[in-house]
Amino acid sequence: MVARRRIIAGNWKMYKTVPEALALVEELKGLVAEMRDIDILVCPPFTALYPVKEALRGSNIELGAQNLFWEEEGAFTGEVSPTMLKSLGCSYVIIGHSERRKYFGETDKDVNRKIKSAMVNGLIPIVCVGESIEEREAGKTEELIRRQVVGAMEGVKTTGAADIVVAYEPIWAIGTGRAATGEDANKVARLIRQTLAEVFNERIAQEIRIQYGGSVKPQNVAEFLEQPEIDGALVGGASLDAETFYKICQGAAGGVE
Ligand code: PGA
Repeated sequence: MVARRRIIAGNWKMYKTVPEALALVEELKGLVAEMRDIDILVCPPFTALYPVKEALRGSNIELGAQNLFWEEEGAFTGEVSPTMLKSLGCSYVIIGHSERRKYFGETDKDVNRKIKSAMVNGLIPIVCVGESIEEREAGKTEELIRRQVVGAMEGVKTTGAADIVVAYEPIWAIGTGRAATGEDANKVARLIRQTLAEVFNERIAQEIRIQYGGSVKPQNVAEFLEQPEIDGALVGGASLDAETFYKICQGAAGGVE
């Protein structure tokens, strides 16, 4: 079995002005300084990326963006390109978050273009998939997840594919305080891995890290990370407070392999 390194990512969404962002990372970097066995990253809003990167110099926290546009430059008012993100020190970029799909009309095709563009430009995509409560209750979770994964990865080259991160985020669990159970999340993560094996190959599918996201807290992170198919967490609300996010990282670092 492949040993996958655990990865905890904080998705700050549209929170934190620059001074607030700096206060958060100044506190966080001290708290997590000794944690070397897991990958830790924060994904601030675009406006805080550069100052946060500067503040993180020499720390073990990496930087991710929450979105990108697939073109490298051009007349696309209001958009931010992968080259811009790369040049200011981002290593990761969240793609296809359900809030982007819902409020900004992102389709599987858009997600696919963004993934390819991120990879060409040396950014690791964190690809979000997940079903709504209606889809779950109608028994459509598997079909939907398969469609999202296949759609996202269509034509993605195998070179570098093992570095991709997939986040399973059931929409009904996001920001609701109502997390999935570890067992349920693991079942979907297994389906994601099987689908990745069909799209790429078994070796790549075994290397790709799968996160769970949706109301992750210090109290429940271990329940997810003890699952064989789950390698990390994408944390929204609980990543906005340094102490809470640190406790989640601790829960992930201390878990059994
Ligand atoms: P939450 O958000 O942790 O606040 O539920 C997770 C996410 O949207 O990535």
